[in-house]
Amino acid sequence: MKAARYYAHSEIAIEIKDLNKSFGNQHVLINLNLNLYKGENLAVLGKSGSGKSVLLKCIVGLVSPESGIVKVLGKDVLGLAQFEMDKIRMKIGFLFQSNALYDSMTVRENLEFPLRRHGLKYNKKEVDDMVFESLSNVSLPETAGKMPAELSGGMKKRIALARTLMMKPDIILYDEPTTGLDPITSREISNLILSVQEKYHSSAIIITHDINCVKIVADRIIMLIDGYAYAEGSYSELANSDDPKIKSFFE
Ligand SMILES: Nc1ncnc2c1ncn2[C@@H]1O[C@H](COP(=O)(O)OP(=O)(O)OP(=O)(O)O)[C@@H](O)[C@H]1O
Ligand SMILES: [Mg+2]
Repeated sequence: MKAARYYAHSEIAIEIKDLNKSFGNQHVLINLNLNLYKGENLAVLGKSGSGKSVLLKCIVGLVSPESGIVKVLGKDVLGLAQFEMDKIRMKIGFLFQSNALYDSMTVRENLEFPLRRHGLKYNKKEVDDMVFESLSNVSLPETAGKMPAELSGGMKKRIALARTLMMKPDIILYDEPTTGLDPITSREISNLILSVQEKYHSSAIIITHDINCVKIVADRIIMLIDGYAYAEGSYSELANSDDPKIKSFFE
């Protein structure tokens, strides 16, 4: 288990207050409150369909909530103009549940894509170095010329992570980073999340229902149940809870 650190006296990287999001008459997030502190790995645990991906999408502006406050690095992001939201997005790495790699591009082109999208100008040598460093961080330095179709599921996940690292993000949002992977590969990805935290001092929300991943990566856990943050604590605090709703995640 991770020797979890306590970050609650650090500055806040993401602050969410009374967030509400519905689709039709389905209330997915109900008065949700959550803080992510700088430097910490916060795991958000919840059943399938509990609104975990919707929560991340609210943070990056892909979904508009009905009410509430979302502050990223001190800036209120709801209702921001597009160009201002783009500036915030440059500081956030989003590892999609589906990886979202471009099938028609090589690994290198996939990694270069966020630089181009944000209009960042680097010379060829700088880009080569960044690509090599990002790929080395995920232990796949030899894959730059490969196509995504040539990679295994675990490798695709690593490449997707390497792509988010190209921007040296302050915040990383991981959506189900280990789902669909075998236990050994899941552990490798979890250890990678940990090494990214140590190397880049980034703050991260890790959305998951993989309790083994939580055990390796989390400094703190929030349980998303019935649309709100039902419980919060360290792994050992929650694992020893008597509450059946909490216990069911640890069985
Ligand atoms: N664009 C949308 N339109 C309508 N309903 C949506 C939309 N996006 C999400 N939902 C609904 O909101 C609920 C929460 O979805 P979400 O994708 O956040 O679940 P999740 O917790 O990420 O689940 P999983 O663990 O399976 O990824 C689901 O019932 C889903 O059907
Ligand atoms: Mg999801």
